[in-house]
Amino acid sequence: VNSDDLSKIRNFCKPFYSGTGKWHAWNHAEAVEKLAIKIATSEFPEADLNVVRAASIAHDMGRIVRDEGHAEESARILKPFLDEIDIDDEIKDKILDAVASHDVNKIEAAKHLEARIVYDADKIEILSVYGFMRVWFWLIEERKMEISEAVQFLEKYCKKFKSTLYSNFAKDFVEQQYPLIEKMLKEFYAYEKKWRL
Ligand SMILES: [Fe+2]
Ligand SMILES: [Fe+2]
Repeated sequence: VNSDDLSKIRNFCKPFYSGTGKWHAWNHAEAVEKLAIKIATSEFPEADLNVVRAASIAHDMGRIVRDEGHAEESARILKPFLDEIDIDDEIKDKILDAVASHDVNKIEAAKHLEARIVYDADKIEILSVYGFMRVWFWLIEERKMEISEAVQFLEKYCKKFKSTLYSNFAKDFVEQQYPLIEKMLKEFYAYEKKWRL
């Protein structure tokens, strides 16, 4: 993928994010792209940076169709476009692998390093104070969960995410950010219990 292909992919993907809801909008795709670039350049010089960027940009656009299974859906939407702009088969396979594997239940079966990088970037965004809040609001607003149900659901996922990270960058990032979330959760549950909400 050269930079021309990358901008074509960006232009193709961006409009889908107007239909993925405000909590997984285009700025989320760009945040994941930035984190993924950081992980790749600081730790994996052998990774194909444009593959990482293309997959980051595309990873959540399948939410326009459905939330459950959106990773596969994103890959399904992207594939015909990659065929159309004539991306090399090997590169195409890497991009689609990274897009389709950014799911806690699929990442262990990913074939390429680039998938691990995109996965780590997406998950550490959630494991940051900012990302935790973002997903918390999403669960309440769009999944219609109660405040406490949402936080318990999210905490369970965060534990899974933490145990599946691959890069040292992601592990260090979480080590720095997650204790703040844990502290907040502890206060949240204590308050809830004390005041019997
Ligand atoms: Fe996703
Ligand atoms: Fe995401």
